Amino acid sequence: MIDLSCNYLGLQLRNPLIAGSSGLTSSIENLRSIAKMGAGAVVLKSVFEEQIRYETDLLIESGHSEIKPWNEVFNSIVSETEYYYEEAFNYLTNYAREHTLNKYLKFISEAKKAVDIPVIASINCRTEYDWQYFARRIQEAGADALELNIYVLPSDPEKDSAEIEAIYFDIIKEVKKFVTIPVSVKTGYYFSSLARFLMKLADTGISGLTLFNRPYNPDIDIDTLQISASNVFSNDSEYSNTLRWVALLSGRLKCDIAASTGIHNHQTVIKQLLAGADTVQLVSVLYKQKFDVLPEIISGLESWMKQHNFKSISDFKGLLSRQNVGNFASYERVQFIRLFTGIE
Ligand SMILES: Cc1cc2nc3c(=O)[nH]c(=O)nc-3n(C[C@H](O)[C@H](O)[C@H](O)COP(=O)(O)O)c2cc1C
Repeated sequence: MIDLSCNYLGLQLRNPLIAGSSGLTSSIENLRSIAKMGAGAVVLKSVFEEQIRYETDLLIESGHSEIKPWNEVFNSIVSETEYYYEEAFNYLTNYAREHTLNKYLKFISEAKKAVDIPVIASINCRTEYDWQYFARRIQEAGADALELNIYVLPSDPEKDSAEIEAIYFDIIKEVKKFVTIPVSVKTGYYFSSLARFLMKLADTGISGLTLFNRPYNPDIDIDTLQISASNVFSNDSEYSNTLRWVALLSGRLKCDIAASTGIHNHQTVIKQLLAGADTVQLVSVLYKQKFDVLPEIISGLESWMKQHNFKSISDFKGLLSRQNVGNFASYERVQFIRLFTGIE
């Protein structure tokens, strides 16, 4: 008998396949299909700090619009004195925050009722904002764990790396104060000393790291001379960067690793597990091939395990991590030389 079960963030999963956070995980109907098709867990679409700020701005701009009774309250407050402007602003910020948060909390509790796999909530944060308050209520709504989606692009030349890294530590510290459910952090790879930084993140008491988020990337349309979006979805060869870092870090972090980006088939799932990932997150492949791909990947993984006589995931997880392969250069090498590529 093949046993695909695994432990991730202290949760028991029937297999290591997680439907990652995206628009696909924002409806109950989809969550039911994802669970029915065999996923081990699901990360819900993130609630975005930007979205809350945007809703606040909208409310303020539309102080004269149909949003009642909020606009009436706002108008009456601001019309009194300048001093009350701040009060009105806080009032609307709270309203926008509550409105967005309540929708999300309702979704979490509906998700928990709809599926019998672990439900991981997700918040996207750029500052420490009020996430501790959010996090506590997300826990109360029944989420099994919380993934913090933190991605600060280091594009401000005035900010040095310590300042940027501090944002991550501040967010984690605030959130961890208020929740007891497992917390994981999903991030990118724009850090000057990536291994050191991820190790320091893992030392904060988080339960997992999701490596890596694949950011929205801009492109340029040379016909319209406009900025456009580049490929929104990954392709099936984009997994190598994640594979390298999973292999380099596996066994050296005080937390679990979920591999993310470019995982489209059972072969890549197996590679990430061999490199040492505890779980894998799938998104683009679910958009491209729908949820039917999940049973295909599971059966491919099972057949491969049978073929290699592995009975459980732990029989081969990390077998080819940096720690377990004698030759560190395999993962550390960055320059092409003929010896490795066979190409002059
Ligand atoms: C349309 C779309 C929406 C996404 N929304 C979120 C989100 O709300 N939160 C998040 O953490 N990641 C989000 N992501 C990133 C994915 O979770 C994932 O990290 C990324 O797409 C890389 O995985 P993949 O190669 O399997 O697509 C989104 C990705 C796509 C394509």
